[in-house]
Amino acid sequence: MIQDRLTLGALVAFLSYIQMFFKPIRDISEKYNIMQSAMASIERIFQFMDYREVLPEPVRAKAPESVMGHLRAEGLSFSYNGQDLVLRNVSFELKPGEVLGIVGHTGSGKTTLANLLLRMYDPDQGTIYLDGIELPSWPVDILRKEIAPVMQDVFLFSGSIEENIRLGREHISHEDLLQTLRITNLYEMVQALPQGIHHPVGERGISLSAGQQQLLSFARAIAGRPQILVLDEATSSVDPETEAIIRDAMARITRKQTTLIIAHRLSTVRNAHKILVLHRGEIRERGTHDELMGARGIYYRLNMLQEKLKAS
Ligand SMILES: Nc1ncnc2c1ncn2[C@@H]1O[C@H](COP(=O)(O)OP(=O)(O)OP(=O)(O)O)[C@@H](O)[C@H]1O
Ligand SMILES: [Mg+2]
Repeated sequence: MIQDRLTLGALVAFLSYIQMFFKPIRDISEKYNIMQSAMASIERIFQFMDYREVLPEPVRAKAPESVMGHLRAEGLSFSYNGQDLVLRNVSFELKPGEVLGIVGHTGSGKTTLANLLLRMYDPDQGTIYLDGIELPSWPVDILRKEIAPVMQDVFLFSGSIEENIRLGREHISHEDLLQTLRITNLYEMVQALPQGIHHPVGERGISLSAGQQQLLSFARAIAGRPQILVLDEATSSVDPETEAIIRDAMARITRKQTTLIIAHRLSTVRNAHKILVLHRGEIRERGTHDELMGARGIYYRLNMLQEKLKAS
């Protein structure tokens, strides 16, 4: 009997002894799992960091003294998946300082064309020439400086307004930065902030309206004084007053640079030197606003539709 009790006591003691170790052992195994998945993530991060730049540097990088901003696209065709053509035989020419408007239904290939000009991708067929030299022959850093995008999605990171405009380009002088704010109609808004240009935006700072974000993306693009601007107008609607401010800023920034504007609001490209109408990856119409309205084709119908929507 006594022996039984002793055995039972020993068993209980043994079990509580085990339990004492059980939790820490379980904790260690949980930590090990976390560490394993962190290791997998680190591996992916290092893979990404080791990934070569998408654009191969040209073998013989030609770098003329200065860029004039003459663009010519010849017979561009492109597909993302190697099968379905998103652009077919697209050609156009844009002289320095000219404004080219691109319009068309959603999915017609407008942003894709912008991607090719920015050398995010190279065309499957055809060539884009900058000042008569095909894009792949230009050193990448010159292309990045001289062809600036203002894309549909504005990415703001936590930091000051200045940091969001500079994007690490330390060579941009403070004067140029202030001038940029004036051109893009941001000067007064920024001056009114407690910390001015050093005021934080994003998560820990002020949140900018859709219109102000667009203006900031203009500022980002022109701060580096590029020769060519590729503008993909945001689809989000802004109030008429902000639209007027944006249009005013746009008129000022397009005065000097060669500009390609992808427009959702057709009023944006009314004064462009040339307008291309893309339909399922092909240029269906080209001309000035008046010529295209006279032709009574897709452009005319798109205009009528927008007027009707505005009136309703
Ligand atoms: N990264 C991508 N990978 C695969 N297909 C894509 C990619 N981007 C766009 N596409 C496809 O290419 C076609 C053209 O898209 P694109 O974004 O150029 O149109 P868009 O004219 O800019 O349209 P929107 O007016 O809506 O901005 C669409 O069919 C789209 O689904
Ligand atoms: Mg688009």
